[in-house]
Amino acid sequence: MGVDTVVVQSLLPTASQPSPSTVTLEVRSKHVVADGVVSLTLAHPDGVRLPDWTPGAHIDVVLPDGTARQYSLCGDRWDPYSYRIAVLRVPEGRGGSAYVHDQLALGARVGVGGPRNHFPLVPAERYLFIAGGIGITPLLSMLRQAQMTGADWQLLYGGRSRASMAFREELTECHGRRVQVAPQDECGLLDLAAWLSEPAPGTKVYCCGPAPLLAAVERACVGWPPYSLRTERFTAAAADPVRRAPFQVELRRSGQTVTVTRETSVLQAVRQAGVEVLSSCEQGSCGTCLTPVLEGTPDHRDSVLADHERAANDCMLPCVSRSRSARLVLDL
Ligand code: FES
Repeated sequence: MGVDTVVVQSLLPTASQPSPSTVTLEVRSKHVVADGVVSLTLAHPDGVRLPDWTPGAHIDVVLPDGTARQYSLCGDRWDPYSYRIAVLRVPEGRGGSAYVHDQLALGARVGVGGPRNHFPLVPAERYLFIAGGIGITPLLSMLRQAQMTGADWQLLYGGRSRASMAFREELTECHGRRVQVAPQDECGLLDLAAWLSEPAPGTKVYCCGPAPLLAAVERACVGWPPYSLRTERFTAAAADPVRRAPFQVELRRSGQTVTVTRETSVLQAVRQAGVEVLSSCEQGSCGTCLTPVLEGTPDHRDSVLADHERAANDCMLPCVSRSRSARLVLDL
């Protein structure tokens, strides 16, 4: 199947690797860019240059109330002094988006970790970008890059209604006919069959949006060449654990073995043993806790690793992933 979910780059935030930097940035601008979506510009209070990033990257934002969330960078990657993010209000969410919309004011300070990129744009002759709603954010910088490198590309952009679709005017003004805007209340569901029915060698498909859209695109890309499709999910795919019984996790470098029960995550059990592992989302969607696996078979429950990376079973995201085997050995 020509499917490749988000790809992990070489930054492995384990004890043997440097941790992502964290800086304090200031909110320099805040605008409503669609119904329920605000765009924020963040910059260093002293005008210091910010870490570089590549299309598809996200940052961890630690809000003044202590909550941390991940947001894709959607500004100009060649501007070294500011980051732009866009935040969708999620009424049934955990409160981070409501805080950003209702309380985060101009001049407020936030902690920013990263940037990290688990959704990189790989070289290709042609790209087909498919965005659903706020899923447009990581794709914005990708299509600028595709334009800059002279690649052929098109964007299919869906959303509930025109008013809910952020950056719609910016896209159509800059890129004209390369962009097809298809609000659901005018056009119905995205016509994926028309866009994806014929496998196109040399074309990479990048998709970001809600889970039903990703599932539909994955189905439509069955039959495409391997790794043609790359997707980014906002939340980890929920699935029942394969193994319900407790399992043992050996921490090879620290010489300890912990028992993981149904009530605990591997990450919690490891920390209870006094071994620190960096984490951020703790939902299997950011990649921060990526940990090398030396023996055993993980039960991958994250939304970061690509299919071939899962099959290799040499790393896992212990905040959500568990074990298929009675014993796992981690390089911790
Ligand atoms: Fe984000 Fe584990 S902390 S994937």
